[in-house]
Amino acid sequence: MNQDQLKLLFSKDYIAEQVERLGQEITRDHPGTELVMVCILKGSFLFFADLVRAIETPLVVDFMRVASYGSETQTSGIVEVRKDLEVAIAGRDVVIVEDIIDSGHTLRTLYNILLQRNPRSLKICTLIDKRSRREVVVEADYAGITMDDGFIIGYGLDFDERYRNLADIFVVENA
Ligand code: IMP
Ligand code: MG
Repeated sequence: MNQDQLKLLFSKDYIAEQVERLGQEITRDHPGTELVMVCILKGSFLFFADLVRAIETPLVVDFMRVASYGSETQTSGIVEVRKDLEVAIAGRDVVIVEDIIDSGHTLRTLYNILLQRNPRSLKICTLIDKRSRREVVVEADYAGITMDDGFIIGYGLDFDERYRNLADIFVVENA
């Protein structure tokens, strides 16, 4: 992939507005008890860092790493937990923070794993919702930006581990 295949899709200002809105929605829905915010590494690390600063409810953060098998641009539905949570979530209000829901396989599996630990509530927050590409049922409780097709990079999102540091989100043409 070369640089001229990248086309600006969502600017950092537009992303920041959506993240601010998501923070307000999560704050509004969880006025009291402490939240456990779960960052799904690596793609959501920048989104997560911005999102938690937009939430006014007291919270703790924790991190999970999952690997979804498949090609660079497509997942298969086989998901392996590479790094698990350190905090116990039983009886607590938990929000999973994901970068993108695409086919839905990754999040469907992750959701079921966390649900078995008996949280009091379990919500899903995603920066990008590729709704029309769903292969299994997963609904985001909080969605930043909805889009149809296209492979995107930047603001934490990678192509073969690269471009995560770009401040804006770009679509890869002819990916
Ligand atoms: P799913 O299991 O098909 O929903 O895939 C979700 C995961 O695939 C996301 O967490 C991303 O890591 C990755 N992914 C899906 N679409 C894109 C994209 O357009 N750019 C970068 N990563 C993507
Ligand atoms: Mg990824």
